[in-house]
Amino acid sequence: MKAVILVGGLGTRLRPLTCNTPKPMIPLVNQPFMEYMLLSLRDQGIDEVILAVQYLADHFRSTLGDGSQLGIKLHIAEEPEPRGTAGAVKNVEHLLDGTTFVFNGDVLTDLDLQAMLAFHRERGSKVTISLTPVDDPTQYGLVEIDETRRIKRFLEKPRAEDITSNLINAGTYVIEPEIFRYVPPDQFYMFERGLFPVLMQTGDPVYGYPSRAYWNDIGRPQNYLDVHHDILIGKVQYTFRGKEIASRVWLEDTADIHQSAQIVGPVVLGAGVRIGRGASIIGPTVIGAHCTIGTDVTIEGSVLWDNNEIEERCVLRSCVLGRGNHIGAHTLVSDGTIISDGCSLGAENRLERGIKLWPGTTLKDQAISF
Ligand code: GTP
Repeated sequence: MKAVILVGGLGTRLRPLTCNTPKPMIPLVNQPFMEYMLLSLRDQGIDEVILAVQYLADHFRSTLGDGSQLGIKLHIAEEPEPRGTAGAVKNVEHLLDGTTFVFNGDVLTDLDLQAMLAFHRERGSKVTISLTPVDDPTQYGLVEIDETRRIKRFLEKPRAEDITSNLINAGTYVIEPEIFRYVPPDQFYMFERGLFPVLMQTGDPVYGYPSRAYWNDIGRPQNYLDVHHDILIGKVQYTFRGKEIASRVWLEDTADIHQSAQIVGPVVLGAGVRIGRGASIIGPTVIGAHCTIGTDVTIEGSVLWDNNEIEERCVLRSCVLGRGNHIGAHTLVSDGTIISDGCSLGAENRLERGIKLWPGTTLKDQAISF
């Protein structure tokens, strides 16, 4: 079975984490998200995937290659310019030969794909859209269905007074390629605002597939941390790599952990991590490979990518650090702060309330101070 994954977006909402890394390739528990997604699609019976890439395309090629290492056949199809979600699939239409899954490349879900496919076939649907309930649909594409689950109406980012359902488009589709005859070639064209409204007019059967499977869009800054917390506390089906060395503490290879350090799970430690005397690592937390955590540092509810160096007595709480940052001693980083890649912070800085540092930022000692 074939699938197309849409991974060509700019990921603007997740900047600065997406300045050097395309959103679908940012790490999820120390593994590029797309690698994790391809493995879980493979385990659900998808053996051939077309990645529709655009922004930072080489990053996908160099990391994923032809997919053989993951046991999947992978084509990387680069658009000459962004074609939008439906235009991107139109661009690879020649590679499709029957019923196909299409996925947004920024959604973590444990949806049962075979059950969705069976539903699509039973109904003789041309497009089936996975739906998920949310408390506040105003930021999403709302979908109205009838009692047979046939879709009656789409409403993109509805106003509060127009809300008639709590079901939104969850970004997984089963499609019959013939519907791409409605998509103009070589143009920017979206599913949500283009093809789906057209299908409402043509009368082609379009169904919704509501489910209570786990669903989260990793492309929003707060969601990125939430998704990690959900995985670590077991809200979503997930297989951890590495060895469980203590209760809910997973180590992906060897590490150098001082005997006085305290690690309270759920915590994942990447390969070659060094944790100094008196440090406390409190879950849900992920520490990337080759990070060095200094004496008496506290890290809680945070995600660090690879190669960060945290000097003594720093406190990191509810924050995300990209790759290769140096954080000077006695610095506080908290409350949704994002530090991207290659930043160098002097001692005794205080970064709170969702501050975002762009790649390569340098701060002197006490530049933002107590
Ligand atoms: P934001 O800039 O933060 O909105 O993120 P985004 O650019 O990824 O857009 P959005 O989250 O709406 O996109 C949903 C999915 O479609 C993501 O997986 C994107 O990578 C993908 N996508 C969006 N636009 C395009 C496009 O023009 N071409 C391709 N191939 N994929 C796209």
